[in-house]
Amino acid sequence: MLADKNILIGVTGGIAAYKVVEVASRLKKSGANVRVMMTKNATEFVSPRTFQEITGNAVSVEMFGDAANFHVAHIALADFADAILIAPATANFLAKMAHGICDDLLTTTVLACDKKIIVAPSMNTKMFDNPATQSNLQILRERGVKILEPATGELACGTTGKGRLPEPVEICAAVEKIFTDKILSGKKILVTAGGTVEAIDPVRYIGNRSSGRMGCEIAKTAADSGAQVTLIAGKIEVEPPKNLTVIRVESATQMREEVLKIFDSVDAVIMSAAVADFRVKNPAAQKIKKSDEMTLELVKNPDILRELGTLKQNQILIGFAAETQNVLEYAKKKLAEKNLDFIVANDVTAEGAGFSVPTNIASIIWRDGTVESFPKMKKSALAEKIIERVANLSGDRKISTVNDA
Ligand code: CTP
Repeated sequence: MLADKNILIGVTGGIAAYKVVEVASRLKKSGANVRVMMTKNATEFVSPRTFQEITGNAVSVEMFGDAANFHVAHIALADFADAILIAPATANFLAKMAHGICDDLLTTTVLACDKKIIVAPSMNTKMFDNPATQSNLQILRERGVKILEPATGELACGTTGKGRLPEPVEICAAVEKIFTDKILSGKKILVTAGGTVEAIDPVRYIGNRSSGRMGCEIAKTAADSGAQVTLIAGKIEVEPPKNLTVIRVESATQMREEVLKIFDSVDAVIMSAAVADFRVKNPAAQKIKKSDEMTLELVKNPDILRELGTLKQNQILIGFAAETQNVLEYAKKKLAEKNLDFIVANDVTAEGAGFSVPTNIASIIWRDGTVESFPKMKKSALAEKIIERVANLSGDRKISTVNDA
């Protein structure tokens, strides 16, 4: 189940740390490459050597010095992980994680990680029920962290109640589930990608620098998440993903037609295409011959997303704003004017953002003005962020049932 997956286990200082030896062993037997990080307190309960023998990998404890072969350990460990499991997670660790405190290798690595994180709290019942712990857990849940409910039973402190670490087999099942969870199953998603091509004559066109990478990553992630995806693509520099329906178009007018054909039946539209704002009024039927001067008369193209904003019933609408200045201000304006659920904004002039590179530096802006700013990340990682948010929104709204077409 977990073949080729890199799982980073963070062990904090709880008595249940001994159970995590079995978790590490089971994950390894499922095919995962497992690394363990421990807080200093955790080493009071289980020796790092135990985890090292079980996983076959060096165990990291110290912020400086002991992460063999790793340069800048916390970043390397965060990059290594496809998912991080924190088990057992103490109340102290949860409080630090919820508030972004990073005062050791584990908390720093977690803060530097933009992958899936599962947390298995384990503590005394009163500590677990304390409003401080509950509110920290709520903060983490809202950020998309998966929280495993502790089991009820006899606790190490001699009392009985909620707070036991779930059994290793259950923890491992939860880890497997995050890789197989189809958060968009039963949903239909329309994604547009690439740049439109507006003909000047049969051989020339007005185009733009969009590569289609971001849109293709979003379409792929949506399909991998179980959605039935239609990708409407203009000019793209990458191969479109395989497990979805691809409709190729050239102009903004064609893109609009194809989008409108299926708009009523989809749950969400993610308009990542760079749609040309203008087209040539009268494209020449034959190749235009050289002359000293030439004037092209342009007319305005339809704004597809704006139109969808006026037509939308329950559909989720996501737009993009590629800007070169005043990014947030312009993006907020577009979000409101186009009646979107959120907009993904980026400064295309920033290094590591923009058209032909595999990374992006983006912010997501919500209708209530909330801004989520992400560090530079792979377009595939940003696609995951976008799809997670679409899945959260679509949980409450029902538009399509797949197979009804
Ligand atoms: N969009 C669209 N139809 C258009 C233009 C843009 O559907 N004719 C969509 C894009 O796919 C993107 C968002 O609207 O999701 C971008 O909006 P906007 O920035 O208004 O497009 P620009 O043409 O870049 O606008 P401006 O020139 O004002 O910056």
